[in-house]
Amino acid sequence: MLPGKNFRVSYSAKANGNIELLKIVRDEDIDADAMSPGEIYILEKAGFTSDRIFFVSNNASEDELGYAIERGIVVSVDSLSQLELYGRLNPGGDVAVRFNPSAGLGHHDKVVTAGKATKFGVQTAFVPEVKELLALYGLRLVGINHHLGSLVMTKEPYLAGAAELLETARQFPGLDFIDFGGGFGIPYREGEARLDLEDLSCALNEMLDGFLAEYDNKDVMFRIEPGRYIAAECGILLGTVNAVKTNYGKEYVGTDLGFNVLMRPVLYDSYHTIKVAGAGEQAAPRTVVGNICESGDILAKDRKLPLAAEGDVVMALDAGAYGFSMSSNYNQRLRPAEALINADGTHRLIRRRETFEDLVRTSV
Ligand code: LLP
Repeated sequence: MLPGKNFRVSYSAKANGNIELLKIVRDEDIDADAMSPGEIYILEKAGFTSDRIFFVSNNASEDELGYAIERGIVVSVDSLSQLELYGRLNPGGDVAVRFNPSAGLGHHDKVVTAGKATKFGVQTAFVPEVKELLALYGLRLVGINHHLGSLVMTKEPYLAGAAELLETARQFPGLDFIDFGGGFGIPYREGEARLDLEDLSCALNEMLDGFLAEYDNKDVMFRIEPGRYIAAECGILLGTVNAVKTNYGKEYVGTDLGFNVLMRPVLYDSYHTIKVAGAGEQAAPRTVVGNICESGDILAKDRKLPLAAEGDVVMALDAGAYGFSMSSNYNQRLRPAEALINADGTHRLIRRRETFEDLVRTSV
């Protein structure tokens, strides 16, 4: 993607943490970023060695930072307060700092993770304080990173952020890596144009050439952290139509795809293409809902869909990222099984369906 540069991709495990998917990612020679000790744990179970895991922490406890430190995993801290804590826990160690550029990006306010209205990162004006803390605890700053937000479909905002991170990097000679985060979007709507990754990487490469011409470490590693781009389009969520009804003129398709299994439409008004298998021809505006006891439990509003009948299979496309990973047992609903279909058409179960016993598994 970036010819002539040291370049690594880290998969952002929060998008889809199924261990079998993580093993595929590992075998593809992709590293991983973790955001919690739980993600570190599952990445290790999937065979990632500590040098291939990057802990991008946020408001981590002493124990959580310690968990990564004792494994030799590089930690990125995202505040002066956490840098100080890290310094006390691991004086003389290696550390990375997440910076917060002036603007972020994203498909919804809730996923913009940089800029003036977010909790993330250290604002660049605090570079002198970062340097003081590094010196105080004898820490070596091995890398800097940021993550602007999620679902960018054009190159400009990503490049503007990258330029700011490089500006910050210039103030820290000798870095081992510079990590531009994830955020690469996928087309959720049928017919929507794809993000032109080729074009983005060409422009980024040119910017990096300019940067490297003046930077002391010519071998600095550049990194990105895609989550959605890797996992989203691999996943289809399958459900069943349990009921069809008309309420005051509105047609509802009642399914078992409640927001406990796909939260994105409720949380961010996100669009997922919905298909009803084996349905009739008459397309009309229909609202696809789940089985959760809240009126907001809507998967797709007023979509032109064919007539559905009880028993039809319903599909939500592009559910491979932030689908299962954000699911819950709300209403004591059981989470579904996951099956892996290989490129050659063979398939196997990679997560069993939950049972009622799972609902009391942690009770004491
Ligand atoms: N790196 C960091 C530090 C992140 O916080 C994230 C996502 C990523 C990488 C990967 O971002 P991606 O390439 O997947 O956009 N639940 C939301 C998305 C939240 C993303 C949070 N951070 C959604 O369903 O749209």
